[in-house]
Amino acid sequence: MKKILVTGGTGYIGSHTVVEAQQAGYEVVIVDNLCNSQVGVIERIQQITGIRPAFEQVDCTDMAAMEEVFKKHPQIGAVIHFAAFKAVGESVQKPLQYYHNNLRSLWVLLTLLPKYEVGNLVFSSSCTVYGQPDHLPVTEQTPRKPAESPYGNTKQICEDIITDAVRAGIPVQGILLRYFNPIGSHPSAKIGELPIGTPQNLVPFVTQTAAGIRPQLRIFGNDYNTPDGSCIRDYINVVDLAKAHIVAVDRMLKKQCKKPVEVFNLGTGKGVSVLEIVRTFERATGVKLPYEIVERRAGDIEQIWADTTFANTELGWQAHETLEDTLSSAWKWQQTLQ
Ligand code: NAD
Ligand code: UFG
Repeated sequence: MKKILVTGGTGYIGSHTVVEAQQAGYEVVIVDNLCNSQVGVIERIQQITGIRPAFEQVDCTDMAAMEEVFKKHPQIGAVIHFAAFKAVGESVQKPLQYYHNNLRSLWVLLTLLPKYEVGNLVFSSSCTVYGQPDHLPVTEQTPRKPAESPYGNTKQICEDIITDAVRAGIPVQGILLRYFNPIGSHPSAKIGELPIGTPQNLVPFVTQTAAGIRPQLRIFGNDYNTPDGSCIRDYINVVDLAKAHIVAVDRMLKKQCKKPVEVFNLGTGKGVSVLEIVRTFERATGVKLPYEIVERRAGDIEQIWADTTFANTELGWQAHETLEDTLSSAWKWQQTLQ
């Protein structure tokens, strides 16, 4: 069965994954309620791949509407579940919306998958589940820390719900993918990240500053215990990240999974500081980036990067794109938005 259902498929990571899935020969059905994306993305996907994915504008928390989707599109081999709210700060302000959206959408899926004989689920998790780890880099065995935000908590709870449901015997294979920091855009610059309002994440803020939309980048702290004092993250190219989902689906459909629920870190294995992002962006694009150092941002962890050995050896996947090319792709995308 080469048909997959992608929830949140018009969003940032979802749209890049739909492109890779179609290019790998999968037939794709997107379910998205467009709460954080635009319907025009469907057209953009078609421009890249030559294939228009099926699209259902449905809220994943709506059990009856989701049931209609499974009836209308039989023979789905796997679901990739991206649909969720994802803003850490907003989740602190609106915890009930976050718990409702992120938990109920998963609960609806886990209820319907056995009924419609869909045996495979890929779930979008996050390195936020590790908090500030005691040892770096983090492996999949690194213990999870108590969540720092309602958003992070939804990711931990969703991981647990899948694990408990599978342990209880629902006929579903699970793969939990813990993303590090996805950045960049498709090389065609036809799809990319569309932050609404002021960007909270580093790279969209960098590109908007370079474009003159923001007067300057604010770097949150240079007094951390890191080589240059700014925070360290593992920035992963979004197309590389998207490709990992296809490898995961292939693995499930070929029944190559070794455990009922598998967990993989998706990163590059390299820690990069905020100041290194600034310098690399300037080098890659030739654009000078005005910035100031301001106080630390509440809730930021000092440093984290992935041990990707398990994903490299077991999935046979690794990130290839350089940071320069990835930041260039983000800049190219930004320039299409003006
Ligand atoms: P995004 O907001 O661009 O995409 C999410 C999509 O889901 C949007 O198109 C939105 O309209 C849709 N959606 C949300 N709730 C829905 C619902 N109830 N029903 C139907 N559609 C719904 O976000 P993204 O960056 O592409 O993230 C995708 C997934 O990856 C999320 O689960 C997110 O938590 C996770 N993740 C993202 C990052 C990151 O930095 N971008 C890091 C780790 C994990
Ligand atoms: N930063 C700045 N200035 C900015 C924005 C960010 O200096 O304007 C710094 C932050 O302090 C941090 C680094 O850039 O040190 C990265 O910040 P992001 O907000 O881009 O990313 P986070 O690591 O804080 O969090 C992101 C997502 C989370 C997700 C996590 C792990 O926002 O949802 O990656 O995947 F959980």
